[in-house]
Amino acid sequence: METKNILRDEVVLRRRGDFPFLSTHPELVYFDNAATTQKPQSVLWSQQNWYQNLNSNPLRGMYDLSAKATAQYERARALVASFIGANTDEIIFTSGATMGLNFLALMQTANCQKGDEILVSVLEHHANLLPWQELARRNGARLVYIEPDENGFLSVDALTRQMSTRTKIVALTGMSNVVGNPPALKHISQLIHKNNALFFVDGAQLIAHQAINVHALDIDALSFSGHKLYGPMGIGVLYLRRQLAEQVPPIFVGGEMISEVTRDHFTLAPIPQRFEAGTVNAAGAVGLAKAIEYVQELGMNNIAAREQELTMYLLQQMQSLPAVQILGSANASDHCGLVSFNLADVHAHDVATILASEGIAVRAGHHCAAVLHQFFGVPASVRVSLSWYNTRGEIDKFIRVLATVRGRMGYE
Ligand code: ALA
Repeated sequence: METKNILRDEVVLRRRGDFPFLSTHPELVYFDNAATTQKPQSVLWSQQNWYQNLNSNPLRGMYDLSAKATAQYERARALVASFIGANTDEIIFTSGATMGLNFLALMQTANCQKGDEILVSVLEHHANLLPWQELARRNGARLVYIEPDENGFLSVDALTRQMSTRTKIVALTGMSNVVGNPPALKHISQLIHKNNALFFVDGAQLIAHQAINVHALDIDALSFSGHKLYGPMGIGVLYLRRQLAEQVPPIFVGGEMISEVTRDHFTLAPIPQRFEAGTVNAAGAVGLAKAIEYVQELGMNNIAAREQELTMYLLQQMQSLPAVQILGSANASDHCGLVSFNLADVHAHDVATILASEGIAVRAGHHCAAVLHQFFGVPASVRVSLSWYNTRGEIDKFIRVLATVRGRMGYE
């Protein structure tokens, strides 16, 4: 395919050298990028540098080193904010997407009364489903599902059908971790706000594959993890719209989130500090900032275009294998780097095990999206999830091995 993308094959081959893991595992085809991505050298160095040269507790000490640590931590916050089009005080560091989504559901306790409705979709990862199931159960609210079409696509019409005057919250994935397929967030947010409900987005999968601007999309909250964006594990981000952040309670209380404390009372620090009780994961935040600088240098649009080319190459070849059953759309443009599938007669775990025996790492199971697998009528699937750093050669190897799997399991 003719392309003007700067991430041409020869550039990608060179850039793979930025990732020590890829160099130390030259025989591994790593196709599990939706579970976690590999990390560039700059992120790895930032972790060593933090603990070797900067380590002190940010936000507390009066000495130079602690002031430097605080400045680095707050610089990371500002960079995250500009990356997603938010204000700096709207960025709360968390341990990951799951923590942010749990925080959100707990913050909504007072806003969600008996008989109110919380809308989620059939596509949700358990991280954006179980916290809302729990809130509904505790408060006597109703959990209402938005149904996708047969390709796993969430339409504005499907959302409209489920909205009512009792809808308080709509919590949706920004990109399914099983079928890819991002919903039309801008249209959806307009509809939700016309109905005076709040719109929360699980950005765990979206964040590494498409540029996002939370203010332009008019999203009330977005949660994502650093480790799927080439950053360290254990650091994540909850964007919370300023007006909302000023109203909701902190979930954790303790050190450094207060303004004043007396024997029986405390007042809150300004946002976002009031949401970050205890010692923060400053090394993680600084590592995430390095990861963001790395993807900004490549360009999110270049990353999306490269992944689109790879997905098209992958999907075309998979579709030529007769026993492959793809979950979701037949169009590569709907998959955003992800293809989940089954092979006729063979369990997903067996497919993944045979691929693994040939040095190909994929995920198999329900990918923490059991309800979506129930919708598709399958217990499990195999998922290939690409990053821009994957190559056509790796896809060729995957297809070669996949073509042998049914034979090895004793089928024609
Ligand atoms: N949620 C991650 C995945 O989809 C771990 O694999």
